[in-house]
Amino acid sequence: MTLLAFETSCDETSAAVVRDGCVLASVVSSQIKLHSEYGGVVPELATREHLRNLLPVARAVLREAGVEAGEVDAVAATQGPGLPNALMIGLKAAQGVAFALGRPFLGVHHHEAHLYSPWISGTPPRADFGDFQPNIALIVSGGHTMLIHVAAELRHQVLGSTLDDAAGECFDKTGKLLGLPYPAGPEIDRLARQGNPRAFEFPRPMLADASDDFSFSGLKTSVRYFLQKNPALADEAGSLRDLCASVQAAIVEVLTAKTLRAACRARVRCVTASGGVSCNSALREQLAAGCRSAGLTLRLAERELCTDNAAMIGILAERKLLRGTAATSLDAEIEPGWTLA
Ligand code: KG4
Ligand code: ZN
Repeated sequence: MTLLAFETSCDETSAAVVRDGCVLASVVSSQIKLHSEYGGVVPELATREHLRNLLPVARAVLREAGVEAGEVDAVAATQGPGLPNALMIGLKAAQGVAFALGRPFLGVHHHEAHLYSPWISGTPPRADFGDFQPNIALIVSGGHTMLIHVAAELRHQVLGSTLDDAAGECFDKTGKLLGLPYPAGPEIDRLARQGNPRAFEFPRPMLADASDDFSFSGLKTSVRYFLQKNPALADEAGSLRDLCASVQAAIVEVLTAKTLRAACRARVRCVTASGGVSCNSALREQLAAGCRSAGLTLRLAERELCTDNAAMIGILAERKLLRGTAATSLDAEIEPGWTLA
């Protein structure tokens, strides 16, 4: 099956061509530069950029894949959750293509696609569900922090999620307090490599809590109060690196400990991680170390597939269509706040 997929839930305009579990081509047009001027994603600007970029991205991905539009057997797009108008551009464009070609259309849940992205790897990227095993999945991004028990392929249950800010939001907002550009996550990651993670003590919110939920807004507030008392620290290069390392250590310790604990409780032998924050080098290292000592297999999404992309949408859509587990509908509507069961 040759499938054309679109993803426009937030600030990346992306399209991919997938054939028989293999990503033939994937194009991502990022809007980060545009939004960084405003310190965060501006929904209206995101919508305008998707409108401008979607068709050039679609043309580019078909060219790169060496596939003619007429060879496409099915079309998929992110249905939700995400920014309503941004979602609408990708969904309606994809349905238009499916309608014109007379092919089926499938709407895909954005988090469910992140959930299976750690099973895509290699060059060219290929889905590797032969190795699939029940797992605890950590989805950690700018909008979401979730722990999910994946009991079998396409069968999963959300165990917990953030009660307030997502981990990526915490990276971005504390980074802003430290004077770093948006999105601050990658910058904190870079500076933290030369900093001391024990230089400053920040809270580990809900680490001791028995639930699988998270909360990061208190950590952000404690960084704000700390900087009010110590205003000069963020201006000095050495202490800025220590601050980045200390904030990152707090976030990463909570994410790692709660993920491993959930894996232990669910008696699974595998942990996966995906979403933009799973690019974080300390998180990748600590999940790897924790899984090694607990005898668990770890599957991390490849860095290019951590952030939003249409390749993961296409792989999941093809899988569902081949297994007959999803209803296709040209009338599918966007689901901005759709929750993952
Ligand atoms: O998955 P994603 O591209 O978009 C959302 O659905 O939110 O994730 C973007 C988030 C941002 O908050 C960004 O700061 C964070 O992922 N991020 C990182 C790193 N790379 C991206 N956070 C920490 N360390 C990184 N290396
Ligand atoms: Zn995402």
